[in-house]
Amino acid sequence: MLAHRSNEKEILDLGPGNYTAEEFTHCQKMLFRINQILGTFHGTVNVLKKSGKKAQVMDVGCGAGLFILNLSRHFPKMTFHGIDISSEAIDMANHEKSVFTSDTSNVKFEKMAEPELTFDENSVDIILATMVCHHMGNEEIIAFFKQALRTTKDKVIINDLHRNPIAYWFYYLFSPILFRNRLITYDGLISIKRGFIRQELITLLEQAGMKHYQVKWCFPFRWRIIIWKK
Ligand SMILES: C[S@@+](CC[C@H](N)C(=O)[O-])C[C@H]1O[C@@H](n2cnc3c(N)ncnc32)[C@H](O)[C@@H]1O
Repeated sequence: MLAHRSNEKEILDLGPGNYTAEEFTHCQKMLFRINQILGTFHGTVNVLKKSGKKAQVMDVGCGAGLFILNLSRHFPKMTFHGIDISSEAIDMANHEKSVFTSDTSNVKFEKMAEPELTFDENSVDIILATMVCHHMGNEEIIAFFKQALRTTKDKVIINDLHRNPIAYWFYYLFSPILFRNRLITYDGLISIKRGFIRQELITLLEQAGMKHYQVKWCFPFRWRIIIWKK
C-alpha cells in the first residue's frame, strides 16, 4: 500500500462542496497545532534565525496563514507574503490576521490566480512551502522546485511528510481519538500515502536540476528540504 506515492485525492482538494465551513476552520487550526507539536514550526524558526533579519518570506500554500502569522511574532522585521490557490483559505487567513493578537502589518495574503508561481526572478529572499508538495504530482513538484528557485534570492524551505508504515498505522489508530475532525483523520492518512521516501525526494530534486540542497529527516516522520540558490 505504501510502496509508491498514492494518487488519491484529499477531501480538501475536492473543494468546499465536500466539507462544512466548521470542518474547514477547525482543520486549519489543527494543522497549525500539529505543526507546532511535531516541531515543524520550531524547526522553521531555527532555519529563519540564520537568515537576514529583514528577509522577505513567501509562504506558498499558506492555508489559513497561521504559520506565517506566528512566524511574524518571532521575526517582526521580516515581511511575510502568504499565497494559496484556495480562496477559502485566503479568506480565513485574512480573518485570522484581523483577529491576531500582535502586530501583523508585515503580513499579507493573496489568492494565486494559477497553481504555478509566476513571480519575477529573484523577487523574494525565501520561499517556504509547508505540507504543500504532497498535494502535487511528481511533474508539478519538479516544476515547483524550478519556479521556486528562480523566484528566490536565497533559499527554498520545504516541510513535508515521510511515507512510512509506522507513521501511517500510528496515525490510523490515534488521529480519530486525538483530533475528532474528518478532514484531519481521512486527509491525514492520504497525506501520508502521498508523502515521500528520501530517494524519491532526491530524484525529484535532481530531475529539477537542483545543485545545492539538503534533505533532513525530522522526528517524527517529517522532512525538511532546503534548496539554496548558490
Ligand atoms: C495541508 S494545507 C497546508 C497549509 C499550511 N501550509 C500549513 O502547514 O498549515 C495545503 C495547502 O496547500 C494549498 N495548495 C495545494 N496545491 C497548491 C499549489 N499548487 N500552489 C499553492 N497552494 C497549493 C492548498 O490549497 C492548502 O491550503
